[in-house]
Amino acid sequence: MPLAMDRVVLVDGQVAAYCCLWLVAGEAQVQNLAVHPAFQRRGMGKFFLIQVLSQARAAGATRASLEVRDGNLAALYLYQSLGFCLEGRRPRYYQPEGKDALLLGRNL
Ligand SMILES: CC(C)(COP(=O)(O)OP(=O)(O)OC[C@H]1O[C@@H](n2cnc3c(N)ncnc32)[C@H](O)[C@@H]1OP(=O)(O)O)[C@@H](O)C(=O)NCCC(=O)NCCS
Repeated sequence: MPLAMDRVVLVDGQVAAYCCLWLVAGEAQVQNLAVHPAFQRRGMGKFFLIQVLSQARAAGATRASLEVRDGNLAALYLYQSLGFCLEGRRPRYYQPEGKDALLLGRNL
C-alpha cells in the first residue's frame, strides 16, 4: 500500500509549488512536481525537490523514480541536475501527441 507524501510551498498563503510523492517498498515515486509560473526559474523547484527527497529518505526510501515527458526540457534539466539518470522509456505514452515517457531514477 503506497504512503502518499504530498507537500506544498505557500507564499503569502497562496500555493507556489506542489509535489506529490508515493513511498512504495522503499522507493520514492515522484508523481508530480509543479512550480507556479510566477515563481519558476528562481531555484524553488530544485530546492523543494531536494527537501521532499530528503524527507522520503528519512522515511526509509533508498531510491527515487519518476516519469517525465520526452521534450520537457525544464523538468529534464532539473532532474539531471539532481542526479537522476535515464532508466527506461514508455514509447508514445502521452497521447494524442505521441511523446514518450522517460523513466528516470537515482539512489537516495
Ligand atoms: C519543471 C519545474 C518544476 C522547474 O521548476 P523551477 O522552480 O522553475 O526550477 P528551478 O528554478 O529550481 O531550476 C532548477 C534547474 O532546472 C533547470 N530548468 C528549470 N527551468 C528551466 C527551463 N525553463 N529551461 C531550461 N532549464 C530549466 C535548470 O537546469 C535549472 O537550473 P539553473 O536555473 O541553474 O539553470 C517547472 O518548470 C514546472 O513547474 N513546470 C511545469 C510542470 C512540469 O513540467 N513538472 C514536471 C513534471 S515531470
